[in-house]
Amino acid sequence: LPRLFSGMQPSAASLHIGNYAGALLQWRDMQASHDAVFCVVDLHAITVPQDPAELRERTRRTAAQYIAAGIDPEHSTLFVQSHVRAHAELAWVLNTITGYGEAARMTQFKDKSARGGVDTASVGLFTYPILQAADILLYDAVVVPVGEDQRQHIELTRDLAARFNSRFGDTLVVPEVRILKETAKIYDLQNPGSKMSKSGESPQGIVWLLDDDKAIVKKIKSAVTDSEGVVRFDPVEKPGVSNLLTILSIVTGTEVDALVDSFAGQQYGALKGAVAEAVVEELRPIRQRSLELLDDPGELDRLLKINAERASAIADATLARVYDAVGFLPRG
Ligand code: TYM
Repeated sequence: LPRLFSGMQPSAASLHIGNYAGALLQWRDMQASHDAVFCVVDLHAITVPQDPAELRERTRRTAAQYIAAGIDPEHSTLFVQSHVRAHAELAWVLNTITGYGEAARMTQFKDKSARGGVDTASVGLFTYPILQAADILLYDAVVVPVGEDQRQHIELTRDLAARFNSRFGDTLVVPEVRILKETAKIYDLQNPGSKMSKSGESPQGIVWLLDDDKAIVKKIKSAVTDSEGVVRFDPVEKPGVSNLLTILSIVTGTEVDALVDSFAGQQYGALKGAVAEAVVEELRPIRQRSLELLDDPGELDRLLKINAERASAIADATLARVYDAVGFLPRG
C-alpha cells in the first residue's frame, strides 16, 4: 500500500473542528487504502514555550482524539514524535542543505514571530519546517494529507528531498501534498477572515472537539455573520455565513448548493440552529470516546509504545540510508 504521513501539534488541550475537517477526516478515510503513519508532533510543540506537565497531558489527549475520530492504532501507525529519535537526527542533516533565505521565506514563521517579534521567537521555530520535512521523508511517504496552511511546508519538503537526491543520489521519496478544497480552511467563528487556530485570539471563535454540547451551541449561535440576511455561499462578501455552510456541509455530507437551497427564505437563526445541532451530534461520540480513552492512560501509553516501535523500524532504515549517502563512517 502507498505510504501516507501526517501529524498535529499537541499544543492545546483539544483539537478543533478545523483540524478535524482539514486533516482528521481525510486521515480516517485514507487509512483503508494506505499504509498510514500518524504522528503527535511534540518536538514541534516545544518551538514555543510549553508547560511540561501540560505538554504530557496534551500529547495523550491528541492521541486519544485521533483514535476517537476513527484512526485505528492496530491498523495504522499512531505514535509520538519524541519516541522516535530519527526525527531530530534527520532534521539536522536537512538543516545543512536548507538555505537560510529559503527558511526565512516560510510564511508561518513570519506570522508566528510577528506576534512577539523575532527576538522572542526561538531558532527552533525558525527551523520548524525542516523538522517537518524530516518527519515526512523518514517514512518514504508518497502523500501528505493536510489543510491549506501546510502547503508551503510540504513544498519545502519536496524541494529538500529532490535536492538531497540530486546531491547524494536517489535516497528520499518526493511526496505529494493532499489538500481537499472543500475542507482546506475553516475560519474562526468570531473572526471569519482568519483561519480557526489553536492559538486563536477569541475563545468564542473556536469549536474544540472536546467542548461539551452547551459550549458548542453557544459558540455557533454567536458566530459572526453579516447584515444581508440571505443564506448564500460567497466566501468573499459573506465569510461568516459561508464558513457555517462549509461546516454544515462537512458534518452532514450534503453539498453546499443543496444546503443553500434548503435555507431559501430562512434567516441566519435557522442556519445556526442546524449547524449547532449537526456539530453537536458529530462531536459527541468523539468527545465521549476520547474521555474514555483518557480514563485509562496506561492502555493509551501501551498502544503508543507498540506503535513507536513500528515507526522506529521504518525511520531508522531511512536514516541509515541518509547517513550512508552523506558519507558518515559506519559505526561498525
Ligand atoms: P497543526 O497542528 O497546526 O494542524 C494539524 C492539521 O490541521 C490542519 N488545520 C486546518 N485545516 C482546516 N482549517 C483550519 N482552520 C485548520 N487549522 C489546522 C492543518 O493544516 C494540519 O493538517 N506543521 C503541522 C504539523 C506537522 C505535520 C508534519 C503535518 C508536523 N510535521 C508532517 C504533516 C506532515 C501543524 O502545525 O499542524
